[in-house]
Amino acid sequence: MSTIQDRVVIITGASSGIGEATAKELASKGAKVVLAARREERLKKLQEKIQKNGGQAIYKVTNVTSHEQMEELAEYALKEFGKIDVLVNNAGVMPQSFLYKKKIEEWNTMIDVNIKGVLYGIAAVLPSMRERKSGHIITLSSVAGYGVWPASSVYSATKYAVRAITEGLRKEEARNNIRTTIISPGAISTELTETITDTKLKAAFDELYKDAIESENIARAICFAIEQPPEVAVSEMMIRPTHEKL
Ligand SMILES: NC(=O)c1ccc[n+]([C@@H]2O[C@H](COP(=O)([O-])OP(=O)(O)OC[C@H]3O[C@@H](n4cnc5c(N)ncnc54)[C@H](OP(=O)(O)O)[C@@H]3O)[C@@H](O)[C@H]2O)c1
Repeated sequence: MSTIQDRVVIITGASSGIGEATAKELASKGAKVVLAARREERLKKLQEKIQKNGGQAIYKVTNVTSHEQMEELAEYALKEFGKIDVLVNNAGVMPQSFLYKKKIEEWNTMIDVNIKGVLYGIAAVLPSMRERKSGHIITLSSVAGYGVWPASSVYSATKYAVRAITEGLRKEEARNNIRTTIISPGAISTELTETITDTKLKAAFDELYKDAIESENIARAICFAIEQPPEVAVSEMMIRPTHEKL
């Protein structure tokens, strides 16, 4: 039996891309998945698909930029499944742009979703994990969390930030048996580049993403981190297309 069997896993950003693929992969291995995102129709369809394949899934419409909604999400998971074993902090946006274009609203959205959303997720699950002295918090960074390119300044800043937060969390909570994992993908074929509003830049990204690999590759990496024995923490993984030049 997989060690993923009966683990309760909250996944933010489960309505598409990496989050959706992760939910499917985990549910197929017997996890009880709690799906969160803003688009209810997508969550409902995914829940139905998982259930049709014999898996267990519930969902809650959640905006990760709301501390209250993240708390409610954790409470819902506890009410329905009795515990939270893993949080996958996956929701994210990437409206890349040059700084001189002053896309201040997009900077704020990236900071709110990619950084504050991760912090609110940690805040929501940590009390029950500390109480049980068991848990695993997985956060999506990026290759852009290790390097900065023209137009990636703010997005990269958010992905560096979540690495710093996760490393701090690891040092604070290791003694409570709470594991942390940073997953850093390269180009993955998802809806992420749709958030780029600069049309020239979007075209450049479409070119870069010609070599993009499928979300299932990241889902498998997340499963690998979860299924290690409790005394083994996979702290960081970078998964990128073989041909990626970044
Ligand atoms: N694709 C890549 O090349 C790549 C590379 C490195 C890192 N990543 C990271 O991987 C993660 C997943 O992205 P993806 O590639 O799978 O992109 P995606 O297909 O666009 O998925 C992003 C998910 O985030 C959710 N989301 C966005 N804003 C939200 C909010 N305010 N509240 C709740 N959910 C929100 C979206 O759902 P709703 O719109 O329904 O809310 C969606 O489910 C992100 O953190 C991203 O930065 C991706």
